[in-house]
Amino acid sequence: MSAILTSIQPSSRRFNTHILYTTFGVQIVVFNASARYLNAALMMDDVSVADVVSQAGTPVYVYSLKRVLHNFRHLKRAFAPVDARIHYSVKANGNLDILRALTRAGAGMDVVSGGEIFRALRAGANPKRIVFAGVGKSRAEIKYALEQGIGWFNVENALELAYINTIAASLGIRSVRVALRFNPQVTANAHPYMATGHGAAKFGLTGQALRDILAAAEQYPHIDFAGVHIHIGSQLGDSQATLRAIEKLNKLIQPYPRIHTINLGGGLPVAYQRGEAIPSIDDFAAALTPHLKGRQVLIEPGRSIVADAGLLAAEVQYVKRQAGQTFYIVDASMTELIRPALYQAYHEIVPLTQSTKKPIIGQIVGPVCETADVLASDRALPPLRTGDKIALMTAGAYGMVMSSNYNARPRPPEVVIDADGQSWAISRRRESLDDLLRYER
Ligand code: LLP
Repeated sequence: MSAILTSIQPSSRRFNTHILYTTFGVQIVVFNASARYLNAALMMDDVSVADVVSQAGTPVYVYSLKRVLHNFRHLKRAFAPVDARIHYSVKANGNLDILRALTRAGAGMDVVSGGEIFRALRAGANPKRIVFAGVGKSRAEIKYALEQGIGWFNVENALELAYINTIAASLGIRSVRVALRFNPQVTANAHPYMATGHGAAKFGLTGQALRDILAAAEQYPHIDFAGVHIHIGSQLGDSQATLRAIEKLNKLIQPYPRIHTINLGGGLPVAYQRGEAIPSIDDFAAALTPHLKGRQVLIEPGRSIVADAGLLAAEVQYVKRQAGQTFYIVDASMTELIRPALYQAYHEIVPLTQSTKKPIIGQIVGPVCETADVLASDRALPPLRTGDKIALMTAGAYGMVMSSNYNARPRPPEVVIDADGQSWAISRRRESLDDLLRYER
């Protein structure tokens, strides 16, 4: 079967639009090249999600390494005109199997804490290929990063520079590569919680602050001011604001020939919704790369590598008809996937077994004692019954990493399907009740 599937996978850039094929009598609905219905069973690569659920239980995250690697290679190809170095943004999904696979495929890592440095190193990342970003690095984190030989620091504060300089001196490190993070004062077309490049944001340095630092460069003899960094937001709706930011950046660094590296941050969007009009990775790359010629370019994508490589499977516990509405109370909640509650984010929801029944409108909610614990409102779905299984799609980014133990809910397991698309394993087990008490005396 996999040979047949390979031969009919869509060549379209927009993998998220649903495409229906009937071939050799087999009906296939494609969400992306990895997630699809095959004869009414939701598959991730060649693995039936229902099989995974029957062994791993619900709720459970399921990730496709094949899709992760496909997305990584797609990005690499798109940014090939400037030979961009890709540093995967660990904050989007820190699963060790994903980090290992990306490291082996040649990705560097973008980290924002000592904890993420630790994870990246455990996954085999080369410290020289790690960039350490973050608006408030502690001195302990800076020391740890320097001891580990981290390749780049993205710096957004003059005092932070002084810390790095002093700690590097005390450790006998001659030179630390720094990219100053510029706040270009552009407003990204993004959810307000994900816009970081406007004047009122806590992120980055103003142009003047950045110039002042460079004018005083001799105060930091252990710092090599080799780069600049921007990241104007996540899930960017278009490339316009990024382009404006790059123009401002190019102007800003023109007097400083020593600055040869531009780190563009992350932010490349993914389609969460059927037919969603978002620029593709290729569109973004085509718009940006002409303005980056002659520079060493780094990028820090997170979502665009892992989002559509993951889903969260859940089971319907109760169906409640109340106040003219149908509530499906499922065993996943805002503790497993906070994005809908926090950003009103949309995740497509589909049953693990495709149904031809007429859809009805329902509210998909979790068991947590919060009115905001809604995974989807007013969603047209075939009528569901207690015990039915569903999947929240495109949940590979900012899902498990933002999960919590609120309401003393053990975190779900993470299942990883290998790059062969067939073998799978529990990569991180379900937390136990004992795990919940682990840190208490
Ligand atoms: N670089 C920097 C400096 C960042 O702040 C971020 C994300 C990235 C790279 C990666 O961005 P991406 O390629 O994933 O868009 N929790 C939110 C997203 C927050 C993004 C934070 N920064 C969500 O669930 O949508």
